[in-house]
Amino acid sequence: MVPVCPTSALPPGEAIRVTDGVPAPIAVFNVDGEFLAIDDTCTHQDASLADGWLEGCEVECPLHASCFDLRTGMPSGPPAKAPVRTHPVTVVDGTVHVQVGGAAEGAA
Ligand code: FES
Repeated sequence: MVPVCPTSALPPGEAIRVTDGVPAPIAVFNVDGEFLAIDDTCTHQDASLADGWLEGCEVECPLHASCFDLRTGMPSGPPAKAPVRTHPVTVVDGTVHVQVGGAAEGAA
């Protein structure tokens, strides 16, 4: 598990990009108090999804507006076609942790 930040540093509606201790950047979101993590890099081009717009349980890519479901990693429509990976998140002693490599890849 990789420590990300204190829960107080990631309020509802916000996202954080994790680059330390992970093989590839991960974006962690606070969706109304629930922490969810996906690969940070869009599967279409090189955009950071942590910089996207969070709406409900989806994030909209800041570059070409594909939306990704934070629970499944699936894109809702083009131009992105491939899903991003999801990663389990746990809170331990008030610190958000992400588990890397624990989740299966979504369907192509
Ligand atoms: S880079 Fe994300 S939709 Fe194009």
